[in-house]
Amino acid sequence: MSISSSVAYDTLIPNNVGLSSDKRVLKGLQTWHPGYIDWWNKLIPQKFQQSPVYLRTAVGVDPKGWAKFDYVKMPEYRWGILLAPQVEDRTIPCGEHTGDPAWQEVPGEYRAMLRRLIVIQGDTEPASIEQQRFLGNTAPSQYDLRNLFQVNVEEGRHLWAMVYLLHKYFGRDGREEADGLLQRSSGSEEAPRMLGAFNEETPDWLSFFLFTYFTDRDGKMQLESLAQSGFDPLSRTCRFMITEEAHHMFVGETGVGRVIQRTCDAMNAAGIDDPYDIDKIRELGVIDLPTIQKKLALHYTLSLDLFGREVSTNAANAFNAGIKARFMEHKIDDDHKLEDATYPVCQYEDGVVKTVDAPALTAINMRLRDDYTKDASGGLKRWNKAIEKSGVDFKFTLPHEGFNRKIGVFAGIPITPTGETISQEQWDAKAHEWLPTKADGDFIQSLMVPCYEAGEYAGWIAPPRVGIDNKEGDFEYIKLHMA
Ligand SMILES: [Fe+2]
Ligand SMILES: [Fe+2]
Repeated sequence: MSISSSVAYDTLIPNNVGLSSDKRVLKGLQTWHPGYIDWWNKLIPQKFQQSPVYLRTAVGVDPKGWAKFDYVKMPEYRWGILLAPQVEDRTIPCGEHTGDPAWQEVPGEYRAMLRRLIVIQGDTEPASIEQQRFLGNTAPSQYDLRNLFQVNVEEGRHLWAMVYLLHKYFGRDGREEADGLLQRSSGSEEAPRMLGAFNEETPDWLSFFLFTYFTDRDGKMQLESLAQSGFDPLSRTCRFMITEEAHHMFVGETGVGRVIQRTCDAMNAAGIDDPYDIDKIRELGVIDLPTIQKKLALHYTLSLDLFGREVSTNAANAFNAGIKARFMEHKIDDDHKLEDATYPVCQYEDGVVKTVDAPALTAINMRLRDDYTKDASGGLKRWNKAIEKSGVDFKFTLPHEGFNRKIGVFAGIPITPTGETISQEQWDAKAHEWLPTKADGDFIQSLMVPCYEAGEYAGWIAPPRVGIDNKEGDFEYIKLHMA
């Protein structure tokens, strides 16, 4: 099987994994393909399926080749299978097999574990497209609409990436799992997506930006630790996916930043100093900063739940097996086995939050989550700087890890955003100050009217500083067929 950085177009499925000479896998994927297209066509509103969108398509995995821009109708997007180049003499980076050659085939004893990790990752990809399916109808601009669809087609490609691994390395049960990825659906009663945050709604564009900022960042952290996997095909797939993921978080960070900018500008123009003068601010047709803080707290806490339990034997087993490593494992200076190491983990005992030292091996999830929180605080710093520059007196903060949790040691425990334990009654009475209410949602929804004129923007969001692919301000990112 030849693997190169250039992509072959000699089959229906662009790829750099030599598909045309791998008849079994090619046939399996060609059988899966119509179901995927059918799923896509039913999902995204028809008027957008027929509209050419200015999208980037990966035509190679080297830095120059993976971002070619052109107009394409989304159902005709060339979803492909792209693995980052093989690193010569790569070894298993962690656990009991540390230093052995990386696996090129599935190690039998870890087959079930590996398949499950791939299926869970795969399940999140189509889920987010399902969550975002109606947003096109209320896009604040062509620029944002294009970014939404770019994120969507790439999540679609990420699904392809996981389906390829299932077909190539897991035989019949892999093919069945690949079919299952198109059968579950976000928010469904009978067959929901596997993880909680991926069954929540993404009802408006602020939610979309916060989702791409916080939840895609969880995706990034998971991909980073799978990119370190001792199973080399998984590592190479995830390494390429991470490069695409960066754009999703860019969409999130700049999207939230532009909403904040517009609010501060409108407050200044109207001479409103008090960021809590909510009614007056909302009358300006912009989203008040305290409401953005509430939405931010919701998306952050939902994303924390995605990391699973703080102390987890599953995570320990995957690490020990060399299947899933830590964030930047190759840069960590220790034995990579964690035989005697400890890691600080929060616990909740007798009504008090305290930190204890747990065996580092069982605290793998906790460590990844800490790395996530560090990574996620960067954007807040930049948003806060912009607010300060506007002269508005307000600061965004990430809530305490115990706030509003459904999974782990804090699940269901009434803890405030600043980390104090209170009674359930007190929590219930205060929740509307900490998390978005129905009225907040209704207000945001009232602003969600589409703005499809090239170069124009809805009143609640500032234009971006630079266009995609450096295009000028009135560039037509999508040629809408509004029949
Ligand atoms: Fe993804
Ligand atoms: Fe993503």
